[in-house]
Amino acid sequence: MTVAWTAQGIREDFPILGRTMRSGAPLVYLDSAATSQKPLQVLHAERDFYERHNAAAHRGSHQLAEEATEAFEVARSTIAAFVGAAASQTVFTRSATDSLNMVAHAFAAATMLHARGREQDSRFVLGEGDSIVVTEAEHHANLVPWQELAAKTGAELRWVGVDPDGRIRTEDLASLVDARTKVISCAHVSNVLGGTLDIAAFAAAARAVGALFILDACQSVPHLPVRLPDTGADLAVFSAHKMLGPTGLGVLWGRDEVLAAMPVVDTGGSMISHVTMQESTYLPAPAKFEPGVPSMAQAVGTAAAADYLTSLGMPSVHAHVSALAARAADALAQLPGVRVQAAPDAPPVSAVSFTVDGVHPHDIGQVLDDDGIAVRVGHHCAWPLMRALGVPATVRASFSVYNTESEVDALLVSVERARRFFT
Ligand SMILES: Cc1ncc(COP(=O)(O)O)c(C=O)c1O
Repeated sequence: MTVAWTAQGIREDFPILGRTMRSGAPLVYLDSAATSQKPLQVLHAERDFYERHNAAAHRGSHQLAEEATEAFEVARSTIAAFVGAAASQTVFTRSATDSLNMVAHAFAAATMLHARGREQDSRFVLGEGDSIVVTEAEHHANLVPWQELAAKTGAELRWVGVDPDGRIRTEDLASLVDARTKVISCAHVSNVLGGTLDIAAFAAAARAVGALFILDACQSVPHLPVRLPDTGADLAVFSAHKMLGPTGLGVLWGRDEVLAAMPVVDTGGSMISHVTMQESTYLPAPAKFEPGVPSMAQAVGTAAAADYLTSLGMPSVHAHVSALAARAADALAQLPGVRVQAAPDAPPVSAVSFTVDGVHPHDIGQVLDDDGIAVRVGHHCAWPLMRALGVPATVRASFSVYNTESEVDALLVSVERARRFFT
């Protein structure tokens, strides 16, 4: 059971929100899609690990090493449960970017090993005539690794287009996906357009041809109740730092048999079961993908973040954050010359991107910064999407559990002040 909460009530958990900015204005933090702020519970969990339990997990049999291992593996179970998964399916990486690169590199490794006569799961082997399908709305982290994979293997990179009004042309899947499609990868929630993609359609397209479906859940896991095994994805990624957790930890989730079939990319200590001078054999997942001393304190901090969100209740987190985003999107759309860059039929989960006719987003951002309001301006690591929308950049306000309606109203006042000043 969850306890009723309000953003106002939990703000004291986030000390940074009490800051006054250079201009003398109080901080209004509306950049959680880039990185979220961290509650004391997360800071304390990390500090407690370092103060009382720090040692190298999975190494040594002394008491501290056992405690560190226990803390690390309990954290894994907590984070796995947060997304409805099993601990054995939950691999820790450095970031979501790292997770996506690991997956793309695994395809390249399988392709190379296959060419040298080493048996590989055919789903991971790519070549000329095969294709990789993404969308034009992807964050560069879910685009550039696939471009590199296509270049290395000769596979073709195809993409589901985006209309100038922000609508993702999911119907393109019918003509893009064929029997030689090996990978379909898309965001669950766009970091620019803010809405949810029709991932059931992407999953069905992948299933129909035996392709692997990879889900970038960076912008959904922090704000929505997400059960990764129910999404239809074979592999999925997200970052701790966007869900109130620390930087330096990403997650790669995968179905058991997919992780078992996926070749390793990074190798070293901890992940092996047997080593000779000629060759090595590897432990089962998740260990096989985690060489070296792991990011233990980060995992413990992320588990505290998952516990924090769970105590608020993800349905109520979603209701709160999406209500703020809708309030912002609706009111911004009423301002003269302001265009909300979002698909008409995909309400924002957290992020609201907009442009102001005749005013560069960086100028808007400057005025907002003077008012203590932190938003992101620029291309949001999604250059192709900017081109599809026909804009050089956007202003993006994004919301989290600690934001309030009065902060949305402060944003609106400041945007209107900027608009009047520059037009
Ligand atoms: C949709 C999406 N995918 C991937 C990433 C990359 O995440 P990270 O920088 O934590 O690796 C981001 C970060 O903004 C994102 O929004």
